[in-house]
Amino acid sequence: MHKKEVKIMSKQFHYIANWKMNMHFHNAITFCSSEYESLLELVKNQDIQITLCPSFVTLFSITQMFKQSRVFVGAQDCSAHQEGAYTGEVSAQSLHEAGVRFCIIGHSERRKHQYETNELVAQKMSQLLLNKIIPIICVGEPYDVYSNQKSLEYIQEQLIAVYNALKLTSVELFPYKINIAYEPIWAIGTGIIPNNDHIQSVATFIKKYFEPLSKIVTITVLYGGSVHSDNANLLKTISGLQGFLIGGASTDFQMFKKIVLST
Ligand code: PGA
Repeated sequence: MHKKEVKIMSKQFHYIANWKMNMHFHNAITFCSSEYESLLELVKNQDIQITLCPSFVTLFSITQMFKQSRVFVGAQDCSAHQEGAYTGEVSAQSLHEAGVRFCIIGHSERRKHQYETNELVAQKMSQLLLNKIIPIICVGEPYDVYSNQKSLEYIQEQLIAVYNALKLTSVELFPYKINIAYEPIWAIGTGIIPNNDHIQSVATFIKKYFEPLSKIVTITVLYGGSVHSDNANLLKTISGLQGFLIGGASTDFQMFKKIVLST
């Protein structure tokens, strides 16, 4: 089940569909079966990597559908615990056994609605790494922080626990791959995006921040927040950016495809 290799080469750009709770069971399955051939066609280009992140209930069906392909499946969350009496939680091990290769953690919607802390996000990351799942860790500031030009300080604060947890995680599993998705809260679902210089400065900052851990971890920086077919080509010119985390626009296949193919 886990024979597929996740290759992240420097030219490769990763398109991650975060379906949130916008796609119910039947929608998600129908999307995957009706667009199966088209998705496979897209990833024939080795520079294109696609990961679909449906809700928990459809994960296994979708990993089964795509198991012989280069289309990957990600979860939208996982438990911070290994196992035990945590009703309603899903362990990273279960995700791994179900064929999941990526997992979004620390999305601002979970930080807001489920009160997730930076420490909890770091615990989730450790569980994922122990289970060979690549974490997609979301960070990003609210608008007032952005307008006060304090974005980098805010993001650093969000990453301290992750940084410290990485230093403590078992050496045998090095080097880890981690995706950090910069998602300004004010850009999510609003149609407003920061300019390229700002995103570039955040991407550079994140890479620099983890530099002392370069033997332990390879960092890929993604951008998320109102990525659309009419801004994707401009966003792709940001050097050092290796992918998008796409919400609303990823639930419409034609829109998603336009983003993937925009140059
Ligand atoms: P959006 O969401 O593309 O709908 O803005 C992105 C996200 O929340 O991951």
